[in-house]
Amino acid sequence: MAEKKSASARTRLAHGGRKIQCGGGRAVNPPVVRASTILFEDVDKLLEMHSRRVDSSFVSYGRNGTETTFSLEQAFAELEGGDGCVAVGSGLAAITVALLSQIKQGDHLLISDSVYFPTRKLCDGMLQRFGVETTYYDPGVGSGIADLIRPNTRVIFLESPGSITFEIQDVPAITAVARARGITTIIDNTWATPLFFQPLAHGVDISVHAGTKYVVGHSDAMLGLIVAKEEHHEALRLQAQELGYGIGPDDAWLGLRGLRTLGVRLDQHQRNALEVAQWLTERPEVARVLHPGLPDHPGHAIWKRDFQGASGLFGVELRPTPSNGVAALLNGLEYFGLGYSWGGYESLAIPTFPEKLRTAVPWQAEGPMLRLHVGLEDPADLIADLEAGFQRMSESRTLE
Ligand SMILES: Cc1ncc(COP(=O)(O)O)c(C=O)c1O
Repeated sequence: MAEKKSASARTRLAHGGRKIQCGGGRAVNPPVVRASTILFEDVDKLLEMHSRRVDSSFVSYGRNGTETTFSLEQAFAELEGGDGCVAVGSGLAAITVALLSQIKQGDHLLISDSVYFPTRKLCDGMLQRFGVETTYYDPGVGSGIADLIRPNTRVIFLESPGSITFEIQDVPAITAVARARGITTIIDNTWATPLFFQPLAHGVDISVHAGTKYVVGHSDAMLGLIVAKEEHHEALRLQAQELGYGIGPDDAWLGLRGLRTLGVRLDQHQRNALEVAQWLTERPEVARVLHPGLPDHPGHAIWKRDFQGASGLFGVELRPTPSNGVAALLNGLEYFGLGYSWGGYESLAIPTFPEKLRTAVPWQAEGPMLRLHVGLEDPADLIADLEAGFQRMSESRTLE
């Protein structure tokens, strides 16, 4: 069946990136193509392929990808409405490539104060050492971003919702200001995936993803994806190649395989997470649930205006409790694993400390913070697991 450009995202998930020939036909899911050295018929062909290194449909050396990588890139670019996608080895590598492709010594960056912490470390570490200055801005700034722009501001970096604290940004307001000034915008769209938010359609220039999370979806591979229109795609491809950031075909294949079920998994993550989040709002131990899909979330109206859904990750602010109370809650959990990352099929929980990270706007909370990833388990079991945790938390207080 011919692929139609106008097909819905869910249809594209099933049909995208399937152009590889296989035994005279086409495999339903593209096979893993392994290669480092590629041999060519003659010198002319060898030199031609080498000169076309930006074009992802040609393989000249394995580090720049094989057909498996290109299939994933093609499927993901199409899904997010970009002209191209570059796959790299992790979400942080995607952020690094996107930033480095745009900046030079002496430039200035505007980065949301709610950004994923390693993005901040990159800016305050390597980028600062190489002469790039960063200002962190209030994620709620909206069109007020205009007041922070300097003559040498090159990039505005967004993440919505913010890591750990889940503020929703007014993306169209910020991109309108950036476009008028010729400043590149980059967004970390990992939480929403292209199914729940389309950055390029909201004026963003470059969208980055930790494919490690929902795209791979099974917590067993690292992956970064960078999507842009033609205008930025070549610079991104060349930047990734300069850094030698190619990915192995097995990880590309796991990304492609994950994409096929992204829609059904996300729908279930959304339902389960909302059920758990709503239950948490009624608990006496909880001060606030930071989930943009809840009507009392400060970013709910913008989320409703711009997003098509919410994934499974959100924050919880507890009422004041001694630190051994948090440990008592988390330590005995049966279904929520204690581990970093998220986006896989399983539930996870970690304590978070946003007050230690913020520099633009101090984080105000009455008690300790948690981040929960709600997986594909039965939400009734997850709720019972948390309920038992609250019981342990209350018992730990009486033991003091
Ligand atoms: C929002 C966000 N962006 C980027 C990353 C980095 O992804 P990776 O772990 O694949 O480098 C993470 C990882 O937790 C993340 O939460």
